[in-house]
Amino acid sequence: MLVMAIETSCDETAAAVVRDGREVLSSVISSQTEFHKKYGGIVPEVAARKHIEVISPVIKEAMETAKAGFRELDAVAVTCGPGLVGSLIVGLSAAKAIAWSINKPLIGVNHLEGHIYANFLNPNLKLQTSKQKAKDNHQKPNFPFVCLLVSGGHTMIIKVNGHGVYQTLGRTRDDAAGEAFDKVARFLGLGYPGGPVIDRLAKEGNPKAVKFTRPLPDGYDFSFSGIKTGVVNVKSRDPGLTTRDIVASFQQAVVDVLVDKAVRAALDHGCQTMTLAGGVSANSLLRSQLEARGEDAGLKVVIPPFEYCTDNAAMIASAGFYKYINSSFVIRHSSLSLEAVASLRLE
Ligand code: KG4
Ligand code: ZN
Repeated sequence: MLVMAIETSCDETAAAVVRDGREVLSSVISSQTEFHKKYGGIVPEVAARKHIEVISPVIKEAMETAKAGFRELDAVAVTCGPGLVGSLIVGLSAAKAIAWSINKPLIGVNHLEGHIYANFLNPNLKLQTSKQKAKDNHQKPNFPFVCLLVSGGHTMIIKVNGHGVYQTLGRTRDDAAGEAFDKVARFLGLGYPGGPVIDRLAKEGNPKAVKFTRPLPDGYDFSFSGIKTGVVNVKSRDPGLTTRDIVASFQQAVVDVLVDKAVRAALDHGCQTMTLAGGVSANSLLRSQLEARGEDAGLKVVIPPFEYCTDNAAMIASAGFYKYINSSFVIRHSSLSLEAVASLRLE
């Protein structure tokens, strides 16, 4: 089954074609980061306009790279929330027009669900011959699994009991993890987005230079505003500290808290598999520490391929595929009246 997907929830215009939920035939991403940099964050109105400018060429390139014609598609998947409503509408309108013109189902996908399904994509199937494809060696997560979902807007621990069956175990009480990276980077004058810069700089710093407190609210909830304020305080108290040491210590504190709670959630809930999702899952320390600590605890750890951690449409196609083929879903596909919902929930 061939699914073309569109993702425009934030500042990335993306389209992808994926076969059977796992084989990525194309994944095109046009990033607007350069336009938003000077404002230190995303300007919703600018984001919506930029999506309009590039949506058609991005879809065209995705179809051409996949060597697919519109009539060969079996369905069109699209992110319908959560996200910036003006941005979501651009992707939704394009997806509806294509689905209507080829008379194929339209599948609305929750952006967070898309991030979770990045774990099902198999980079080893990409551009291989059919003989090699028989060796599908990227491990799929087994149900039930725990997913640590960490992005710019969300930080959650979710128990995934089956396709489309989610149970939120914990969430942040203040900033999302990615938001904390972005705010700390902005405070230190490192630019936007903060995550990748901090990840790079932290490699040259001492993670033990500053001992930030690790806030551990009850259960599986998180709180990052204290660590963020800690960065501000330490900078004014000790101006001699290098930025490298501050960000290495900050990153270590955030990763310690995330990994600790995610491993505990998996063990407490009898899950043998743990997965990672969302833009912050691109973080090198988080990836290596979750893998090491999870495996020490006897868990199977599945981490999305690096290129599908931050926003992309391949993950939306995968979620759309599994949503469509899974008969336990009440609504198998969406109608053309599908709406953008800025604060769409997962459960
Ligand atoms: O999932 P995503 O692309 O967009 C949202 O749905 O929010 O996540 C973007 C977030 C940003 O906050 C960005 O700073 C963070 O992911 N991020 C990272 C890294 N790469 C992206 N955070 C830490 N380390 C990274 N390498
Ligand atoms: Zn995202």
